[in-house]
Amino acid sequence: MRGYAAVAFGAILAGAVHASAGNGVVQWDIRRTQRQEELQRLNRRLRKRANPVLEVITNEKIRGGYFATCKIGTPGQDLTLQLDTGSSDIWVPDSAAQVCREIGTEGCALGTFNPNRSSSFEVIGEGQFDIEYVDGSSSKGDYFTDVFQIGDISVQNMTMGLGLHTDIAYGLVGVGYAINEAIVATTQSRDSVYPNLPVQMVDQGLINTVAYSLWLNDLDASSGSILFGGIDTEKYQGELTRIDIYPTSQGDFSSFVVALTSLEARSPSGQDTLTSQEFPIPVVLDSGTTLSYLPTDLATQAWKEVGAFYLPEVGAAVLPCDMENSKGSFSFGFAGPDGPRITVGMDELVLDMTDGQAPQFLSGPYKGRDVCQFGIQNFTSAPFLLGDTFLRSAYVVYDLVNNQIGIAATDFNSTDSNIVPFPSMGAPIPSATVAANQREVTRVPTVTEPAYSASQGFMESASGEESLAPGMPAAWGMGQLLVVGVTMALTALGSGLFFVL
Ligand SMILES: *[C@@H]1O[C@H](CO)[C@@H](O)[C@H](O)[C@H]1NC(C)=O
Ligand SMILES: *[C@@H]1O[C@H](CO)[C@@H](O)[C@H](O)[C@H]1NC(C)=O
Ligand SMILES: *[C@@H]1O[C@H](CO)[C@@H](O)[C@H](O)[C@H]1NC(C)=O
Ligand SMILES: *[C@@H]1O[C@H](CO)[C@@H](O)[C@H](O)[C@H]1NC(C)=O
Repeated sequence: MRGYAAVAFGAILAGAVHASAGNGVVQWDIRRTQRQEELQRLNRRLRKRANPVLEVITNEKIRGGYFATCKIGTPGQDLTLQLDTGSSDIWVPDSAAQVCREIGTEGCALGTFNPNRSSSFEVIGEGQFDIEYVDGSSSKGDYFTDVFQIGDISVQNMTMGLGLHTDIAYGLVGVGYAINEAIVATTQSRDSVYPNLPVQMVDQGLINTVAYSLWLNDLDASSGSILFGGIDTEKYQGELTRIDIYPTSQGDFSSFVVALTSLEARSPSGQDTLTSQEFPIPVVLDSGTTLSYLPTDLATQAWKEVGAFYLPEVGAAVLPCDMENSKGSFSFGFAGPDGPRITVGMDELVLDMTDGQAPQFLSGPYKGRDVCQFGIQNFTSAPFLLGDTFLRSAYVVYDLVNNQIGIAATDFNSTDSNIVPFPSMGAPIPSATVAANQREVTRVPTVTEPAYSASQGFMESASGEESLAPGMPAAWGMGQLLVVGVTMALTALGSGLFFVL
């Protein structure tokens, strides 16, 4: 029998921690960004950067995300860290880091680590910690070992990075493949791999295999959970299906790449199969990314379905915020025609651009309505990303030993729980069936413009009474809209800044 802990965290900074004992799993509750903290961070960046609007978008784009609380060191210091399936190191901002010492107390509001106040702190790699994220932000410093605590579960001798020089005001918990640790890239040597959090949990007998399940829950609900070493059968609906993770061309499994093989738009008015030259599309399931990024040909069709359009000034596809009431949805198909499908409703795909008063369309067909970002954006090259806008609608199990993903439709707001641990090292995902004929992926060699028969239905609100896009033709081109001249006012972050783009 091994330690089990169900750890529930209340408000991020309130620090109420509950834990209970059980069987080979560790549960850690996660929360979406505390809006106030995010606001402060964005405000600070706004003051520093020349182009505030672009900065805001980039920031939202790459690191929105989910946070969890922990204690590090002896005695434990409280920190709130971002959970990231797209990286593999835990790192924390040093209390003396410049970014944490900026004006007032805003810097590093989610906590910093002061090594001088931990009796169990030990530097093991001076100057060897050096990580850079997709958005160009980075953290550098030392590798150290110390105690890492989740509730009353203590992981001893955990290797972590100490961010002495960083432009990120909070730390991260990377739970990806150990081979993807920053130290491996720095030293160019696989021998540098150390046991990262999920591996260390196995080594210390807290869980049985290197695997965990992620339940992000509803956009309107602020919290979800990560369950190390098990699955919770009450957090999804229908079948849990196992699909393959794809290795790199060198044969390494280093990130959670799966095959996206179809995308359908559905609404009360009809259904369209969207096409792309890129199918089957390698997509990374990345909890550290807020939005989802698909090839431009495919994303453009999704935009037309919902009446979103690309706004070059902010580098993102936008749409009216009230489109969150649309009855339409997108169905993402994986691993071929017999593989699992995940439906994502419009209520999960319309995101605020700022925390303050929303910007408004000043002219064009959407005049007077609030501007939001669309959850499906475009990107130029593989790998593409399915971030939180997709992941919230899915219950995803990451099995890093068998290199498989278990995926099912999420059960939003489920309060029931039935936890099934992986029984042993290398055991397959419990209660899951393998997707049939995974190699027969749907290839669509040429891009055919869909009929956009779902488009009209997307424009109808949930009540079906009001039209969300009055007078708008079912499928209108982006060109048409830009001709009418879209200008946008950004009353950014309640700070009184006013931009006309
Ligand atoms: C810890 O102590 C060292 C050596 O005295 C000092 O350079 C460093 O700034 C201290 N760190 C913090 C976070 O106070
Ligand atoms: C602590 O972790 C480091 C890095 O993984 C390892 O080299 C060392 O042997 C571990 N020490 C103990 C006491 O387990
Ligand atoms: C989940 O809970 C949130 C917050 O209580 C609520 O706003 C949302 O509508 C719920 N979602 C579903 C699908 O019931
Ligand atoms: C996204 O699409 C727009 C409009 O087609 C294009 O201008 C932009 O360069 C694309 N962005 C990327 C990253 O491919």
